[in-house]
Amino acid sequence: MNSLLNHAFDPEEFRREGHQLVDLITTYLNDCREARPMPVLPPSDPDTMVDFWTKDLNSTGFDLQKFYQTLIQQSNHIHHPRYMGHQVVPPAPLSALTELLEAVLNNGMAIYEMGPASTAIERVVLRWLAQKIGMTDLADGILTSGGSAGNLTGLLAARQAMCGYNIWDEGARDDSKLAFMVSEEAHYSVARAARIMGWGDQGVVKVPVNSRMQLDSSRLGETLEKAQAQGLKVIALVGNACTTSTGTYDPLSKMADFAEAHGLWFHVDGAHGGAAAMTEKYRHLTSGIERADSVVIDFHKMMLAPALTTAVLFRNGQHSYETFAQKAEYLLSNGAKKPWYDSAGRTLECTKKMLGVKVYAMIKLYGDQLFSDYITTTYDLGHFMSGLLKQEKEFELAVEPDGNIVCFRYRPDGFTGDLNKLTAFIRKKITDDAGFYVVQTSVGGQIYLRVTLMNPFTKEEDLRDLLRFIRKIAGSLVNPG
Ligand SMILES: Cc1ncc(COP(=O)(O)O)c(C=O)c1O
Repeated sequence: MNSLLNHAFDPEEFRREGHQLVDLITTYLNDCREARPMPVLPPSDPDTMVDFWTKDLNSTGFDLQKFYQTLIQQSNHIHHPRYMGHQVVPPAPLSALTELLEAVLNNGMAIYEMGPASTAIERVVLRWLAQKIGMTDLADGILTSGGSAGNLTGLLAARQAMCGYNIWDEGARDDSKLAFMVSEEAHYSVARAARIMGWGDQGVVKVPVNSRMQLDSSRLGETLEKAQAQGLKVIALVGNACTTSTGTYDPLSKMADFAEAHGLWFHVDGAHGGAAAMTEKYRHLTSGIERADSVVIDFHKMMLAPALTTAVLFRNGQHSYETFAQKAEYLLSNGAKKPWYDSAGRTLECTKKMLGVKVYAMIKLYGDQLFSDYITTTYDLGHFMSGLLKQEKEFELAVEPDGNIVCFRYRPDGFTGDLNKLTAFIRKKITDDAGFYVVQTSVGGQIYLRVTLMNPFTKEEDLRDLLRFIRKIAGSLVNPG
């Protein structure tokens, strides 16, 4: 037997290296839990980073554990309480451990035989989630790789169900210009889905937002009429639960009413905040989500799972079969239902990761309450942050937050310079210092700092320290020396 292959598949080496890796990760997680000072995003530039790894690749010798250590050092530390950047969750560590087993088993999932247990587990997890967000037993769906793929999956089903002909087989007809309506604040993957479907820019009819960046439901009627007058056939309405930039929720109930009254498909992009439907305290934000025809929820955002794990739920489960197939494809020629368990027919992926397994393990290990506690804790932190910003002189909120995304900026008294430049300068200084990781966004054409409080162990004192640090940075600019 080839000795290299023997080496690569040596179970004992796996055991040895695995134990060491688990120890290394445990030390890392402890350092993060205890908020040991570390550069949350170690400063680097892309070209130097490529040089580093090119040299490493061309060097002789390789120490796997040293490689793991270097990888940790050079990464963005989302487990650190001072990570407040993008909407990526610090995964519950045991969900990552479960993913290790998934990687070893590597069951492909395209058809049942390629992953019997994981296919069944996926179905159980989807039914569990559908019930948690208030859908009935008729709901069904699939797990896919990311919210962007999820939005495309849901909107492809909307197109097939609502366009009035078999677009999947026939292709687009010249005389039907399809479109959906969505707020100006939707995630770019929604507009991208329209372009992928060949609808171009005109396929995304933008509904104006109010001062909190929520879709203004009073403008729906006029927006639809205008689109129709331009010859567009609007087939769907898309709601945000919540928006990426400011984290505010669209009025889903009113949108569901409108969609129902006008015969539109209602799709909810709940990639970030759809799971708030599972909480006692913040459920009201998602009211109406249960009436959506399709809903996207990312487990890797607010449900503690490693990326990427996304649920696409259909209120009427039969629609799940329309995404990549002609209408009624879920029926076989003899009228029997198409089997649910060969999931490649309903997903973008052919080979797919065993996505539901880690979620299932978390549900069983900790119970539903884990998700509710996580969301409530981080959303509470967002509200604490907004209260703090209102108390602190010279800070201003972009909008009153609904959850754990907070956009704000610092406006020193008497400052007459360019506030956008000052905010960008502050963000750069925070990034250079690396004691915190925050990002910036544009709200209504103005630049704001944006924190997404993804870490349940971020403390109120961390947030106070951040504001102190921002004052210090701005002070050094406004009053140099
Ligand atoms: C509202 C919303 N939808 C969709 C996405 C895309 O999700 P993913 O990054 O999993 O593709 C994001 C990502 O930030 C998002 O915030």
